[in-house]
Formats: sequence, C-alpha cells, structure tokens
Amino acid sequence: MLTIDTTRKISFNRLISNGDLVIVYERHDNMKAVTVSEGSVLQNRFGVFKHSDWIGKSFGSKVFSNKGGFVYLLAPTPELWTLVLSHRTQILYIADISFVVMYLEIVPGCVVLESGTGSGSLSTSLARAVAPKGHVYTFDFHEQRAGSARDDFERIGLSSLVTVGLRDIQGEGFPEEFVGLADAVFLDLPQPWLAIPSAAKMLRHDGTLCSFSPCIEQVQRSCETLQSNFTDIRTFEVLLRTYEVREVKTESSEINGNGGSNVSLPCKRRHGSDGANVVSYPNSSVMARPCGEARGHTGYLTFARLQCLS
Ligand SMILES: C[S@@+](CC[C@H](N)C(=O)[O-])C[C@H]1O[C@@H](n2cnc3c(N)ncnc32)[C@H](O)[C@@H]1O
Repeated sequence: MLTIDTTRKISFNRLISNGDLVIVYERHDNMKAVTVSEGSVLQNRFGVFKHSDWIGKSFGSKVFSNKGGFVYLLAPTPELWTLVLSHRTQILYIADISFVVMYLEIVPGCVVLESGTGSGSLSTSLARAVAPKGHVYTFDFHEQRAGSARDDFERIGLSSLVTVGLRDIQGEGFPEEFVGLADAVFLDLPQPWLAIPSAAKMLRHDGTLCSFSPCIEQVQRSCETLQSNFTDIRTFEVLLRTYEVREVKTESSEINGNGGSNVSLPCKRRHGSDGANVVSYPNSSVMARPCGEARGHTGYLTFARLQCLS
C-alpha cells in the first residue's frame, strides 16, 4: 500500500501488515492484487501460500508455497495497479500515462482536474505525481464507477491525494470553486469540446490541458474549440513497441564459420528476416526482436496551453 506518512511522503519502506493490498507477481504478464488477510490462503499452480507468512515481510519479498513454489509480493505502485485493476471502462496504459504526466508538466504540489475518472488508471499516476501536497480532483457522472474508483483509491492508499466527484462535466462543467486554480486539466470524455470552455476557466495562467480521444474526428472538433483560448495545440499518438532480448547458446563453429578459432568479441552481427538483430559471440548469441503482440492504437492525446492575456 502507498503510505503517506506524517510528513506527507509516499513510502513503501515498511513491512506488510494484515489488511494491506499487495501485488502477487508471478511474471510480467501474470500478477494480481490481493488484500492480505490473516487466516486466508492464496492457491495457484505453484501451491498454497498462507497470508500469515506474508505479514511482517518487506514489499518486494519472495515468498514460498507449501510445495516450494514462489511468487513476489510487490507494492501496488501506479504502474502495477494499471496492469491489475478491474476494467470498468477503457483505460489509459503506461505509454500514454507517462506522456500525459510529462507533457502536462505535473509535479509535486500541482492541482489537477480530471474527467472522466473511469477505472482510475490515470488518476493513480496523477496522484503520485502531485504528492505529497498537491491534489487530484476527478469527476465522473456514473455513480457506480465513481464509487468503485473511490474504493480503489482507498485500498491503494491514495485517498488523501484524490477526491472523486459525481458530476456531468460535459453538461455542467467543472465546479466554480476551482476557477483559476488548476495547474492542469485532463479530459477523457466522449465529447471533450463541450468541457473545454469550462476547463479554460479552471486553469491558472499558463496552465496545461490534455484531451484523450480514440477517434481523429473527436480530435478535430476539440482542436477547433481549443483555438479560442489556447495556444501550443499539439496532437500525438503514442505507439509502444516491446522487444524480446535473450541469449541463445550456440556452437562456436556455427557462428564464426572457421572452426571456432576466432575469439574476438563480438564476432558477428546479422539481421533475421523476422526483424531480429543477432549479435554472435564465440559460444552464444544475443537475439533482440520486436514482440509480435505490440499494442496498437489506443487514442490521440491533444495538448494545449492556456493563452495568457497580456
Ligand atoms: C474511458 S473512461 C475514462 C478512463 C480513465 N481515463 C482511466 O484511465 O481509467 C470515460 C469515463 O468518462 C465518463 N463520462 C462520460 N461522459 C461524462 C460526462 N458528461 N461527465 C462526466 N463523466 C463522463 C464515463 O462514465 C467513463 O467512466
């Protein structure tokens, strides 16, 4: 759990207690969130794990089952939470999230307005970025989603940094109490152009706005609305490509083709037909190739800065 201590610092530097949320990590594509409950067990293909064995261990510990299998108990960071949270809506993933946090210039102490909250995937990263003294006010008009997001922020220890409001942002705009106070506004709404005039009122001078939209027609309409109050309007599509890099053992004669007498390192480089790049050493090769399962289009991120009145 993300702990905010009395000096309002986020810290994982403590031991796992009964009631904590941990990420049970088998491998990068197999992990899940579990609330530690003394007396409960976790059962998976590696055997049975007693929660009582986890209490008092540090986050990051390797723990063993009755059969000697193991998993790691990791802290629920925003990066991991995004991978395990329950999808109540489409969510933002790490590539878009990192770009948003950077390009919106979100730093500790910022006040950020967001709508819609959705599954809270982006909100957790926004919260950590503004910690310890900033705040994220996130709004959704769907009561159940707003409630579930609130519960999740409580579970992962972020509730002092995020407030969830129930509100139709396209219809009513952001609440008047935030006029001129927001450092950044993030919109993930079906008709963001309806909320842009209100977002402009909420931003302090020089404040930044980002709107995420899956379709380019939404982007075009938003950009048209942004023209009246914003400058530096730019749209990006963030595409992520993952690589598989691994060592392959080989016979030396296969690589240098001269009976293995060549001992200089590395001895050969070549490109495979599948896009793989292979560097061969006397007894092994290191192969790097793009993974087939690259995530494609998620959406377009449109950024803009509030025009300062001279
Ligand atoms: C795609 S989801 C947002 C996902 C979120 N960015 C995340 O990373 O988890 C869009 C959300 O906008 C909410 N929404 C749609 N129209 C809205 C409106 N007029 N006012 C407030 N929220 C709205 C929906 O209920 C939905 O939860």
